[in-house]
Amino acid sequence: MYTLIFATNNQHKVQEIQSLVGSDFKIIPLKEAGIDIEIPEPHDTLQENAAEKANTIFNITKQNCFSEDTGLEIEGLHGAPGVKSARYAGEGRDFQANIDKVLLNLNGVHNRAAQFRTVICLLWKDATKGIQTYYFEGICKGKITAEMHGEKGFGYDPIFIPDGADKSFAEMTMDEKNTFSHRQKAVTQLFEFLRTQ
Ligand code: IMP
Repeated sequence: MYTLIFATNNQHKVQEIQSLVGSDFKIIPLKEAGIDIEIPEPHDTLQENAAEKANTIFNITKQNCFSEDTGLEIEGLHGAPGVKSARYAGEGRDFQANIDKVLLNLNGVHNRAAQFRTVICLLWKDATKGIQTYYFEGICKGKITAEMHGEKGFGYDPIFIPDGADKSFAEMTMDEKNTFSHRQKAVTQLFEFLRTQ
């Protein structure tokens, strides 16, 4: 069985990913790896932030690890909040405040098309090539609702309906969300790659 450290403190992300992974992989979140740090996300792109997180944890553990960074990109807000999604309404990383700001800024905006985009960065110790860096991307297109719907999930889930669905991510079970989600698409590529190693 492969063990792989997941450079996150977000328990929702851990659960979503663990539920997608077969029994041949064991995902170890930071807490379980005995690492108690807040990883910085200082960059202007999801890819750079994902790389920062994975490199930070690799430098501590020297073990195979991956990270992910996700942004909600709203057409009518010219791609905002994007890479700033976690701190859209301030440093508090408050889900409700972030949602309130999105809905306020979209007031009167006709185009509510949006997408979640996830970038995964994998640092992998290859037996012959040494430490390798790989990226995987997953996109989920949809639209932003006028009001909040549902109480499951996390982050912007209550205001996002994926294309092909008739309810928000926050009204779905985790398995339902995983059939549509950005994170599932990126993670599926990650594990397809790992199965070839
Ligand atoms: P980060 O990837 O942890 O930096 O997340 C950026 C922001 O997007 C945070 O506010 C998260 O709560 C939010 N976010 C990330 N993934 C999802 C998701 O799957 N659904 C809803 N919000 C998300």
